[in-house]
Amino acid sequence: MPSAPPPILPGRYRVALVCLGNICRSPVADVVLSAQVAEGGLDDRVEVVSAGTGDWHVGEPMDHRAAATLTSAGYDASRHRAQQYAVSWFSECDLVLAMDGSNLADLRALAPDDADPARLRLFRDFDPDEPGGEVPDPYYGGPGGFTDVLEMVERTCVALTTAIAAAVS
Ligand code: 4NP
Repeated sequence: MPSAPPPILPGRYRVALVCLGNICRSPVADVVLSAQVAEGGLDDRVEVVSAGTGDWHVGEPMDHRAAATLTSAGYDASRHRAQQYAVSWFSECDLVLAMDGSNLADLRALAPDDADPARLRLFRDFDPDEPGGEVPDPYYGGPGGFTDVLEMVERTCVALTTAIAAAVS
């Protein structure tokens, strides 16, 4: 299991979750990680943000299928509004996690030369069951895709929260 890199500012941690549109995968990961961070009593030190590399859905709530999947599992999906990833996030975030390899390639292409490569990686590098896997894009598929995404996101966020807790303690 990878460790989370040390915080830029001691005792504070900001983690960014990034997909293509910021209406399906990264919002689900944002809601789940935020809930687990709060459950672990880390929400005074850890900030979770999410974005898409694309701008098509900026300002919109998350996809209704993603929201329904989260709501059925007891999460609050109502507060999300899509935003686009900005280059300034590379210097402001301790960890930037891409949902799939294409998102990671897009982020690497955007990253300034002085960006720390250890802070940019795949979200599922923290998945204990399949480290280095991708979160598949459920946008064009059926509702089962969203259930699959939630399952892998919940499992990955348990390990990710543990890694972040160690980095900020
Ligand atoms: P996401 O899914 O990257 O998980 O938010 C998508 C949402 C929108 C589009 C593609 C993927 N789109 O092409 O609009």
